[in-house]
Amino acid sequence: MAVTRTIETVGVVGLGAMGAGIAQLAVEAGFDTIGHEVDTSRGEAARERIGHFLTRKVDKGQLDQASCDAALGRLRLTTDVADLAGCDVVIEAAFEELEVKHQLFRQLERALAHDAILATNTSALSVTEIASVLERPGRAVGMHFFNPAPLMPLVEIVRAERTEDEAFEAAFALGDRLGKTPIRCTDTPGFVVNRVLIPLLNDCVRVLDETGVTPADLDAGMQHGAGWPMGPCALLDLVGADVHVHASEALYAKLREPRMAPPPRLVRMLQAGKLGRKSGEGFYSY
Ligand code: 3HC
Repeated sequence: MAVTRTIETVGVVGLGAMGAGIAQLAVEAGFDTIGHEVDTSRGEAARERIGHFLTRKVDKGQLDQASCDAALGRLRLTTDVADLAGCDVVIEAAFEELEVKHQLFRQLERALAHDAILATNTSALSVTEIASVLERPGRAVGMHFFNPAPLMPLVEIVRAERTEDEAFEAAFALGDRLGKTPIRCTDTPGFVVNRVLIPLLNDCVRVLDETGVTPADLDAGMQHGAGWPMGPCALLDLVGADVHVHASEALYAKLREPRMAPPPRLVRMLQAGKLGRKSGEGFYSY
């Protein structure tokens, strides 16, 4: 298979915080974009979220109204995977469960043209394993964006075991066209950034218990003493305890390093529904 097609239409499957952010990047970069969600209300919530952030850019003089309207006009929503048939690339940003991703990848392969690219935004699963259900796994690649996707410059382009060069380079070029700084990675647990960041954030949470400092003091320490743009507790509230604990467990299962295992304090927060910003309470209240 040669993935030589020009990318004009981008599909995004799963329009949660990450998927909506990726769809925002795609419409802003001028791509016709089709967003898929399991029900209409979730799709509309994502459209509103994108509209909100684009309008803020207009308010602040970073975008003119006509470009904002044109960007929003490039977004179509669907609940049917078959409607993604015309996409040149689909970026899957659904729930981080292997079975969910397998089911989607099977459906997407049936729906898409033979030379369309299938990308996953997985943060801690293996791209090779996700792509294993495809008849043509050479077209699959990882495109791992960072939260919040419209603001964080990096995208990790992940070469899975069977990713073909054309698909890999096309995903890299797409990352560039989306205004990101792409880096080339291999399909190792956590790729590059999460391999470092997840145990580091886990250390930070353990430090809370070991030292008795408050989340605010730990955050101030890391912001003003280590130059972090936001403190670890604020960052965990942004990422969400559910996402972080799940990613920690996935990395721990693969690497067996104690620092990868989610700290009990974070697991308790998850069990209590203190997920961070999305639930209104985490280390801080929102
Ligand atoms: N989507 C789109 N636009 C957004 C947004 C979002 N989620 N959040 C904010 N914005 C827009 C808003 O319009 C905002 O302006 P407004 O407040 O006037 O409306 C504008 O961006 C600027 O927002 P901020 O003032 O909050 O921007 P800052 O300059 O403070 O930077 C930050 C915010 C980029 C989040 C910065 O604090 C930062 O870099 N933090 C670290 C984040 C980080 O490390 N992320 C990685 C997490 S790990 C990960 O994602 C891996 C995964 O696998 C778990």
